[in-house]
Parts: sequence; structure tokens; C-alpha cells
Amino acid sequence: MRQPLVAGNWKMNGSAASIDTLMAGLKQGMAEVKTAAVAVCPPFVYISKVAELAKGTKIGVGSQDISDQESGAFTGEVSGPMLKEVGCQYAIVGHSERRAIYGESDAFTARKFAAARKFGLIPILCVGELLEEREQGITEQVVGRQLDAVIELEGIAALGQAVIAYEPVWAIGTGKTASPQQAQDVHAFIRAKLATLDKGVADKVQILYGGSVKGSNAVELFGMPDLDGGLIGGASLTADEFLAICRAPNQS
Ligand code: PGA
Repeated sequence: MRQPLVAGNWKMNGSAASIDTLMAGLKQGMAEVKTAAVAVCPPFVYISKVAELAKGTKIGVGSQDISDQESGAFTGEVSGPMLKEVGCQYAIVGHSERRAIYGESDAFTARKFAAARKFGLIPILCVGELLEEREQGITEQVVGRQLDAVIELEGIAALGQAVIAYEPVWAIGTGKTASPQQAQDVHAFIRAKLATLDKGVADKVQILYGGSVKGSNAVELFGMPDLDGGLIGGASLTADEFLAICRAPNQS
């Protein structure tokens, strides 16, 4: 049985003051979260603070990105050992905003995935198609290609110690959630693809859905057989809304 995971991706939002409020709210509500594991991914500069606030709670901490390098002359980068030292357990890699806005390729994302693993972080590998790719009927091809880049570099077994997040780009921050069946179809495709290489990995890997998940649609989405929780953007910025999503797996 796979434990559901609900991870909040705060993106470039928040301040020291708003984070105090958000974390206080989350801590208060965590007792009602019975089934899901919970993590939050703050902007780099607030990770230490959030890790400190999360101490003694069941709230895990992740980064939104990670350098593919270990240390050295890489201005602006943040390495795996640094993230580990300040209290991260997870690192998001290949978020569509990194891929689309900052031009990060499948191969570069795979190197970040490798760096996360090398330094003891669990990668949350984001995959997903653009609207035009869905309309062209090439969703599986795109998602397959994004997964292959990681499998080629790190091997299939590596995915057994990682988390995959399927995030259709057209559903991110748009209010347009994929229907539970649309999400399930791609999740099932991902699991079946992995199963052709290693059934054990396919059965074990958590596949999260991301894209306009809210308290009001989480129960239905997470009720689908191959959805193991969510990667939550906008709705992770308010404690009540995020907690409602974290509680959704209680019921499925
Ligand atoms: P959203 O973002 O929940 O605001 O759509 C999801 C994500 O980008 O991870």
C-alpha cells in the first residue's frame, strides 16, 4: 500500500511574517491529518526557518529546485548538501515553470534528479504536457520522454526511491483541474510504463497529481487508484485550504 503524500509548492510567495502564520495554522491542524504524509517546499531563503518551525511535527520540508552541481563557482545555485544541511528531505526537480520559463531541458532535469539522490534527498520529479501537446494527442509521448531522460541517466531502480508528480501544464495555476479520469489515465500510463521495466518500482512509486488541486476537488482526485496525493501550488498558501487537501486521503 502506497502512503499518499501531499506536498505544498509555495513557489516565489511569502514573507517571514506570512510563513509564521501559515506554519502555525498547519501545526494546529496536523492532528486531523490521519493518512497522508505532508511536506512544504518554501523558497530557498526560508527553508531553515520552516525546518525550525516544523521540528517535532510531521511536516516534512523540501526545496523547489536543486543544483545539478555539488559546490564551486556556480553563482546563484543551491546544492544538495546545503539543502540537506538546512533540513530538506525532498527536492522538486523539473517543475514546468523551470522547464518553460528557464529553459531547463529533460537532460538537465535528470542531472538535478541525480544530484538530489546523491545527496540524500528524495526527488519529486515533475512531468506533464502543454495544452498544445494534449491537443495534438502526444501527452504520453511527452511524459514518456521526460521519464526516459531520468531512467537513462539513473536507471529504473532510482525511481523506486523517488516521487513523480504529474502536472499537466494547462492545469497549473489556471483553475482548470484535469478531471479525475484524465489524471488517472496519465498516472496509469506512467505506472504501466515503469512496470515494463520493473514491476516492483511501478507498484511502489508515489505518483502525485498537481494542477489546481483544491479542498473541494481533492477527495475525488485522490480517490483514483493511481493517484497517491498531490503537489499543491496556490492552495498550499493558506493553512485551512491546504489542510483540507491533506485530510482528503483520510476518506479514500
Ligand atoms: P497550482 O500549482 O496548484 O497553483 O495549480 C501546482 C504546481 O505548480 O505545483
